[in-house]
Amino acid sequence: MNKKKLHKLFINTVYSLLPALLIASCNAGKNQTNYETSMGMFEQKSLKAQGFNKNNNKHNFITPPKGSVSKEKEKFLYKQAYQAEKNLKNPFKKKYTAEVLLNGKNLYTIYCALCHGKTGLGDGQIAAKMIIKPPSLLSYKIRKSSDGLIYYIIKKGQGLMGSYANQIPKPEDRWAIINYIRTLQKFNNTVK
Ligand code: HEC
Repeated sequence: MNKKKLHKLFINTVYSLLPALLIASCNAGKNQTNYETSMGMFEQKSLKAQGFNKNNNKHNFITPPKGSVSKEKEKFLYKQAYQAEKNLKNPFKKKYTAEVLLNGKNLYTIYCALCHGKTGLGDGQIAAKMIIKPPSLLSYKIRKSSDGLIYYIIKKGQGLMGSYANQIPKPEDRWAIINYIRTLQKFNNTVK
């Protein structure tokens, strides 16, 4: 290769790498975006969850959205069912208001009735297809057990039944379901 050809190869290489070098070297600084090849893509109005908002000097998302429930806030002290059965008391024990019962009925119908049945007899729509049937909630056992135990079962599940803690995150909603189950028991003498 003669000198002229070598020079040409060198120039060609430099020119072909130049655009890449230009883009890569345009670092605007530590806390700033680099040169924007497509304008406006990096500077968006949307906030980054962990970002800092210079306008109000606060971190973004400092206040949880309305209606969100913190899992950390729920302290659940009972590791075993029998502990909850004995010590966990229903704060809405005497609250059989229409509002509480209607809420309990709605939630029970959505989350429990498909297995345990509309009236609690364990004859929900999918119970027929289950090999091991869901038990009746009008049984002597459940009539006799404390509200704390039912709360524990909603929160943690029991055997084949999974936890409903995520579907029903608010304690007052769980208690409303329990008050509704007690009402079903009260108005149906069938012990099954
Ligand atoms: C997918 C079906 C299913 C759904 C939905 C369901 N359960 Fe259950 N439940 C079961 C089964 C099956 C058992 C028996 C589990 C075991 O002991 O192995 C059970 C057990 C129970 C028991 C204990 C009964 C006993 O005699 O020991 C209670 C109380 C109970 N469920 C309440 C509820 C409540 C309240 C809901 C709604 C939040 C609910 N269940 C939703 C299937 C279901």
